[in-house]
Amino acid sequence: MSQKGIRGVRGMNDILPPESLLWNEFEALVHSWAAAYGYRPLRTPIVEQTALFKRAIGEVTDIVEKEMYAFEDALNGEHLTLRPEGTAGCVRAAIEHNLLHQGPQRLYYWGPMFRHERPQKGRYRQFHQIGVEALGFADPEIDAELIVMGARLWDDLGITDVRLEINSLGDPEERAAHREALVAYFTAHQDELDEDSRRRLSRNPLRILDSKNPAMQPLIEEAPRLLDYLGAETRAHFDAVLALIEAAGIPYRINPRLVRGLDYYNRTVFEWVTPKLGAQGTICAGGRYDGLFAQLGGKPAPAAGFALGVERVLALWEACGGEPPQPELDVYLVHQGEGSAPAAFRLAEALRSSGFSVIVHAGGGSFKSQMKRADASGAEVAVILGESELASETATVKPLRRPGAQRQVPWTQLEEVVAHIQLGSEESDGAGTLA
Ligand code: HAM
Repeated sequence: MSQKGIRGVRGMNDILPPESLLWNEFEALVHSWAAAYGYRPLRTPIVEQTALFKRAIGEVTDIVEKEMYAFEDALNGEHLTLRPEGTAGCVRAAIEHNLLHQGPQRLYYWGPMFRHERPQKGRYRQFHQIGVEALGFADPEIDAELIVMGARLWDDLGITDVRLEINSLGDPEERAAHREALVAYFTAHQDELDEDSRRRLSRNPLRILDSKNPAMQPLIEEAPRLLDYLGAETRAHFDAVLALIEAAGIPYRINPRLVRGLDYYNRTVFEWVTPKLGAQGTICAGGRYDGLFAQLGGKPAPAAGFALGVERVLALWEACGGEPPQPELDVYLVHQGEGSAPAAFRLAEALRSSGFSVIVHAGGGSFKSQMKRADASGAEVAVILGESELASETATVKPLRRPGAQRQVPWTQLEEVVAHIQLGSEESDGAGTLA
C-alpha cells in the first residue's frame, strides 16, 4: 500500500541550493554592512509570550487579530506565539537585561518571522527579516541614519528601482486630535464603511487608513491627514529628517497615507517600495517608536528602527542581476581499490588543513564514473588514488579546468602541486619542476 508523502507547511519554504548560496552571500554582506554603521547583533527567541505582541503591535491590527501563530503550550498552559516581527522581542530583551543602562544601543537581528497570511508571491507564512533597531536615541539624526543605511544596502546590492516613501505620524496628543477628526469624518460616512472598518471606527480608527479594500480607497483619500495636525516640535523633527536625507542625496516622496500596520509607531515612518515585484512591493519598512519601552513596562526611552523582508530583497536583487555565487571547490578526490578509503580521507584532511576545499568521492563505482562526478562537481583538480598510487604513496593529479597533463606526485608534494595548478602557474606540458 502506498503512503502519501508528508509535505512542508503551506506558505513556509525550503531554501535549496543554489538559491541558498545567494542567501549566504546576502547574509555575509548584511553582517559587514551592519558593522560598518556600528550595529551589533542581537538574537532573541522565535517564541515569545503572546501578551508581548498584543501589547506592542496592538490588539486591533491585522497581525494580532488574524495572523499570529498563537498557541497554548500543552505542557504548562503558557500562551505563546511564533514571533510575527522582531521589534517587540528586541525591546523586551533590552528592558529585561537593562541594556540601555550602558547607553544607547545600535542592534540588528536576522531570522524567520511567522504570519498566517494568504500565501502568494512575496508573501509567506514563514518569511525572514533583517531588523535594525536604534534604542535610546531621540534625535532626527538616527531616523536619517536608518534611511541612509537602507540606501547603502540597495546600492551595495546593485538594486535599482526602489524609492523611499516617508511620513510623520506625530506624537500622542497630535494623534488624538487627528483621531477625533477621523472618527467624525468616518462617522459621517458610516454607510460607505466595510465591515472591518466599521468595527475599527471606535477601537482604532487610524487602522481604517490601512485598509486594503479597493472600495474603501476613495473615502480614505479624502480623510483628514495626520500631517495637518503636527505641532511645531514634531514638524521640526520631521523637517530635520528630510533635510538630512536630502543632504545625503536620497530622493523621497512624502506619503501622507502611510500609516504602517503596527500600532507602536510615532513621528517618522517610512517604507522602501519597488514597482518590480508586483503587489508585494514593500521591501523594507520602519520608523520611530518612542512609546514602546514604556508600553512594555520599561523606563521610557526613544527608539527607531526598520526591517527588510529577505525574500523580497533577494527577489529584487535577482531581478537586478544578482546571481548565486558558484560554490568554489578545489579538489575532487577519486579513489578505488583495497585500502584506498583511509588514505583518501587522510590526504583530504591534509589538503583541507592547507585551506583547500575537498570532496572525497563516496559510493564507489568505476574510475570513469567517478571522473564524471569530479567533472560535474566544478572542482579545479581531480586527485586520483588507485592501487598503483597507493603502493607507491603517490596520487595522480589532473587539472579539470585548465590545460595541462595529469601526473603522479608523491603525497608529500600534493598540496604544493594542487596550489600551483590553481594559481595557473602549471606548465602546460605537465612536466613541472615539482614532480
Ligand atoms: P513590517 O512592515 O510588518 O514591519 O515588516 C517589514 C518587512 O517585512 C515588510 O516591508 C516586508 O518586506 C517583510 N514582510 C512582512 N510580512 C511578510 C510576509 N508575510 N512575507 C514576506 N515578507 C514579509 C515590521 O515587522 C517592523 N518590526 C519593522 C520595524 C523594525 N519597525 C521598527 N523597527
